[in-house]
Amino acid sequence: MMPQAQSNEARRIAGLAPIIPVLVVEDAAKAAPLAEALIKGGLPALEVTLRTEAALDVIREMASVDGGMVGAGTLLTPWCVEQAKAAGATFGVSPGATPKLIEACISNELPLLPGAATATEVMALYEQGYDMLKFFPADANGGAAALKAIGAPIPQVAFCPTGGVSPANAKDYLALPNVLCAGGSWVAPKAAVDKGDWAEITRLASDAAKLR
Ligand code: 3PG
Repeated sequence: MMPQAQSNEARRIAGLAPIIPVLVVEDAAKAAPLAEALIKGGLPALEVTLRTEAALDVIREMASVDGGMVGAGTLLTPWCVEQAKAAGATFGVSPGATPKLIEACISNELPLLPGAATATEVMALYEQGYDMLKFFPADANGGAAALKAIGAPIPQVAFCPTGGVSPANAKDYLALPNVLCAGGSWVAPKAAVDKGDWAEITRLASDAAKLR
């Protein structure tokens, strides 16, 4: 799947809801109820970060939950791409982008939402065919004001800002014409996941789903 087709799919996924939950899950037994709670709240696109030992099992479990779209986050190497795809991820997210990572997403048919933080990084990815990017780390790189400024010379590229996005600033991002959705971890706080407080997670997801 070539970069332009990957971005087309990323744009479709970004259009499903205003927020993509960024999930760090330690226990695969929590995966299915967590996905169900988020989907029930109106957030069907889920990013499972490959930052825990259980992450690939979590993707496997979530991939079998109806109504969801499960992606793998924190893709750093071609190995991550292969493992994520084999586990059932239907899209990938990376904090930055490298030629090897992009090659792996092309050959493994995994649509990638690649990370960029500067105009040069945005231009380099756009040159390769990507026009839907993750802006990371969003808040630390100037937040909505920075994305608005990047959008002036490069309006063709759309973004999913992630990193420091919160209920307090999400609307500032989502109001921009070059922002299709945002990523955030606040909808699945560790304490609620550990307790199995799925009603609380559905409540947070439902509030996030109404942000736009
Ligand atoms: C991450 O790196 O975990 C993501 O960017 C999510 O960031 P957040 O916890 O600030 O939402």
